[in-house]
Amino acid sequence: MKILVTGGAGYIGSHTCVELLKAGHEIVIVDNLSNSNKKSLHRVQAITEKKLDFYKVDIRDRKALEQVFEKHDINSVVHFAGLKAVGESVEKPLLYYKNNVGGTIILCEVMNKFDVKDIVFSSSATVYGDPHKVPIKEKFPVHPTNPYGRSKLMIEEILNDLNVSDSEWNAILLRYFNPVGAHESGLIGEDPNDIPNNLMPYISQVAVGKLDKLHVFGKDYPTEDGTGVRDYIHVVDLSLGHLNALDKLQENPGVTVYNLGTGEGYSVLEMISTFEKVSGKSIPYDILDRRSGDIAECYADPSLAKKELNWEAKRGIEDMCKDAWHWQKNNPQGYKI
Ligand code: NAD
Ligand code: WQD
Repeated sequence: MKILVTGGAGYIGSHTCVELLKAGHEIVIVDNLSNSNKKSLHRVQAITEKKLDFYKVDIRDRKALEQVFEKHDINSVVHFAGLKAVGESVEKPLLYYKNNVGGTIILCEVMNKFDVKDIVFSSSATVYGDPHKVPIKEKFPVHPTNPYGRSKLMIEEILNDLNVSDSEWNAILLRYFNPVGAHESGLIGEDPNDIPNNLMPYISQVAVGKLDKLHVFGKDYPTEDGTGVRDYIHVVDLSLGHLNALDKLQENPGVTVYNLGTGEGYSVLEMISTFEKVSGKSIPYDILDRRSGDIAECYADPSLAKKELNWEAKRGIEDMCKDAWHWQKNNPQGYKI
């Protein structure tokens, strides 16, 4: 199959491109490189020894996107392109709605024009907001608490509406929990532009000596050790889930939603101690107040993905920390040198 991957140069996109190529798919990537580096795609080619087509295109640029669809006979789209920083979305909501929602509308219009009506969309566990209980099931109520999360929910609803208007549209909405880790080669991984917002890249940068110490946000949550609990999922497991979703699209499923997580929750302190164990580095940290907007506990019930997509995460937190460290150690400046 020929797959268009939007945002394919980014963290999850680049890992998914590796798995798509390994599985024998042809891929065409569009990315405006606003939060990524073209080098990631050179590395994807080095890992797979396969060819890919890349276009530096913003998905809001209808004309440029149409040219890509004219040139390539696309079967399905895997749609990663979007902005993802929660804090920034609170400061710049219009940017998030314009890029994420506006970009997706243009992408869908172009898909319609070229009669491509199968899409896998990167949604997020953030759409659940603060869940009333854990583990989280797909049918739980959704109430995102920031513009980023609302942009994801709006896109889910747009894709639902498209299917109602035209049953030829199929969309698989994948709600990712907390993607971490890197490809085992150490050639591709997460490369935040500034100081990381997320826990794992922050820990890695402390370990490699780029940052002095970690700030642990809150130790008074109603969890076992008082720190926040999340469902960390290895990015390679997550990427493989997209292959299963593409297979599922062949059954014309309409619109379906799946949690992609491991079903296990780990605390911040457990992540620190596991990282220390696998890297042999010490991670100094201070306990700070809770971070605004954070919740105590969030982990998935991933059983629907197992049942209907025949997918489950296989890699545990030691693999996640080991592979994150391998990437960071080999690429202390990310893709920047
Ligand atoms: P990322 O920033 O590494 O990748 C996103 C890519 O999209 C980047 O390469 C960026 O340059 C590109 N992009 C952004 N806007 C674009 C536009 N208008 N046109 C073309 N390209 C554009 O992020 P990621 O972590 O790989 O996330 C991929 C997707 O998964 C995003 O949609 C994100 O919201 C979603 N997601 C991520 C997480 C996470 O924690 N990483 C969790 C849940 C969902
Ligand atoms: C994890 C835990 C923090 C950093 C975010 C987005 C979510 C999704 C995934 C896109 C929490 C603690 C963190 C630090 C810390 N992304 N922490 N010190 O907040 O669960 O989810 O990424 O869809 O939408 O909100 O992930 O990695 O930021 O935090 O103590 O420097 O680590 O308080 O308990 P989060 P995270």
